[in-house]
Amino acid sequence: MLLFNMFRVVTIFALFAVFDRGCWATSYRFPDNFLFGSATSAYQIEGAWNESGKGESTWDRHTHTHPEMIIDGSNGDIACDSYHKYEEDIELLKYLGVDFYRFSLSWTRIFPSGFPDDINYEGINHYNKILNLLVANNITAMVTLFHWDLPQGLMAVGGMLNPRFVTFYTEYARTAFEHFGDRVQYWLTFNEPFQTCVFAYGDLMLAPALGISGIADYLCGHNLLKAHAAVYHLYNTTYRPKFKGKIGISISADWFEPNTTDDEVAAERIRQFWYGMYIQPVFSSKGDYPDVVKEYIAYHSSLEGYKQSRLPQFTPDEINYIKGTYDFMGLNHYSTYMASEAPNISLETSYYNDYQVSLSSAGDSIANDSNGLLEIVPWGFRKLLVWLKDTYDDPDIFVTENGINDLDDVIDDKRRISYYGQYLEALLEAIYIDNVNVIAYTIWSLMDNYEWYLGYTSKYGIYYVNFSDPDRPRIPKSSAHFIRNVFGNRTVVSYDKVD
Ligand SMILES: *[C@@H]1O[C@H](CO)[C@@H](O)[C@H](O)[C@H]1NC(C)=O
Ligand SMILES: *[C@@H]1O[C@H](CO)[C@@H](O)[C@H](O)[C@H]1NC(C)=O
Ligand SMILES: *[C@@H]1O[C@H](CO)[C@@H](O)[C@H](O)[C@H]1NC(C)=O
Ligand SMILES: *[C@@H]1O[C@H](CO)[C@@H](O)[C@H](O)[C@H]1NC(C)=O
Ligand SMILES: *[C@@H]1O[C@H](CO)[C@@H](O)[C@H](O)[C@H]1NC(C)=O
Ligand SMILES: *[C@@H]1O[C@H](CO)[C@@H](O)[C@H](O)[C@H]1NC(C)=O
Ligand SMILES: *[C@@H]1O[C@H](CO)[C@@H](O)[C@H](O)[C@H]1NC(C)=O
Ligand SMILES: *[C@@H]1O[C@H](CO)[C@@H](O)[C@H](O)[C@H]1NC(C)=O
Repeated sequence: MLLFNMFRVVTIFALFAVFDRGCWATSYRFPDNFLFGSATSAYQIEGAWNESGKGESTWDRHTHTHPEMIIDGSNGDIACDSYHKYEEDIELLKYLGVDFYRFSLSWTRIFPSGFPDDINYEGINHYNKILNLLVANNITAMVTLFHWDLPQGLMAVGGMLNPRFVTFYTEYARTAFEHFGDRVQYWLTFNEPFQTCVFAYGDLMLAPALGISGIADYLCGHNLLKAHAAVYHLYNTTYRPKFKGKIGISISADWFEPNTTDDEVAAERIRQFWYGMYIQPVFSSKGDYPDVVKEYIAYHSSLEGYKQSRLPQFTPDEINYIKGTYDFMGLNHYSTYMASEAPNISLETSYYNDYQVSLSSAGDSIANDSNGLLEIVPWGFRKLLVWLKDTYDDPDIFVTENGINDLDDVIDDKRRISYYGQYLEALLEAIYIDNVNVIAYTIWSLMDNYEWYLGYTSKYGIYYVNFSDPDRPRIPKSSAHFIRNVFGNRTVVSYDKVD
């Protein structure tokens, strides 16, 4: 089955190559205005969890009270110690030759309780120092407002499940715009709505690990979309005239390929459940949740005895309020999976039952899902980009994360170079052959860091960080040199393909 799929993709490429006069991807150059960058997030790198007036986040609480829910029992108390080493981090960015740096703000450094009462100016000063240093080095800032470290204080009122979350989040965003807006060109409201809601409120993988699947995940997503729209409108009307920046949201989307030709409908359905339900309300002229998502959740709800669908409904006013609230589409992409129809209907209330699809590995390489390594499937990236263009009326796509993991410390990381080389070629093909509007590309991640429930066991950095050393030294991996050459030449310089 994999051979069949691989064969089909190879055939399509060959056909394009003929139309394109035999041009190899590697001969393409990135457009002159295309932007390159690298990314991190606050909880994953900062450490200093209780310093300088910072309040407790859900991740502090979760890792301190439930270390058994983290593979290696670790936490982000120190992480990469970037709170103290941000100057060194900016040196790494300079070596890479990035145009921009994507990082996130820790909400509880700014409002320690989460409630918009007393601002902690030590937190404001910290991010001012980073932004000023970026400006001094001609590196554009892309700031994620929310990358999962919710103030623990908000959990007393249900966190993101409380409709008032929209107000608390908007006041936090307003404070960030006021203090930092003059030096931030790109804002992201949320990182990965699917993981934020399904893995943290529906499942047990991410803090606060509520595990109320099929209910809490939908409530969270509903409030998240409203909060995103509120903050977009706030920026659009009040801050854009002054600061001229752009604002969007980062959607995580892996590609789902039909396992057999009978699985086309299943593959499309899981795309709609995993990301379409967060993209369509914002990016489609139709607005609202996708019909297939509404139908399947309503159907399963009724089978389970609910008198109403577990998926909340938007009012027509809300649909219009959320629709069109983007300047670009942020996209986090990692790998590809095969999707198959799963006809058996369980009566257990669960997000995963609602969509009736099972997934399997798309890989034929040495790595597979069961050992925790991601598969290298560059054609899935290209197909996803074409699907996004076709499904959502050709938005500007800003790739806000792309990368692959190692399970050990690998400094000469040939597999990561192979991944980046192939994914960047697929990206160039999407731009030049498929005419997808991709405007920027972001490496995940600048350095090895705290990978949530995987602790320090899964490493995505192009810089190695020695977590046994109190100084947390950073050492460039082979991929850091490769990426520097790609960014500097604005093309995919030669590399060896390995699995
Ligand atoms: C995918 O298809 C193959 C046969 O083509 C089958 O063996 C496998 O079980 C299918 N995977 C799933 C998850 O159904
Ligand atoms: C901060 O947390 C550390 C443990 O990570 C602890 O040793 C230290 O006393 C705490 N500091 C404050 C000010 O609470
Ligand atoms: C700053 O960066 C921009 C684009 O990233 C570049 O065009 C410009 O030449 C740079 N300026 C300096 C002083 O390095
Ligand atoms: C953003 O503001 C502009 C200028 O006021 C307005 O034309 C546009 O409709 C606004 N965008 C949204 C999505 O409301
Ligand atoms: C289908 O789901 C039901 C309810 O969860 C379960 O009892 C049954 O064993 C499943 N059947 C198959 C063939 O998997
Ligand atoms: C997948 O990985 C596991 C663990 O390393 C290994 O035992 C298994 O043979 C691998 N499967 C395939 C198909 O490569
Ligand atoms: C990491 O740090 C420890 C403690 O300082 C040291 O023993 C070890 O050699 C370092 N590892 C690497 C790869 O630098
Ligand atoms: C371009 O890439 C080559 C290696 O392929 C490297 O030697 C050179 O320094 C790079 N140029 C720039 C401007 O980065």
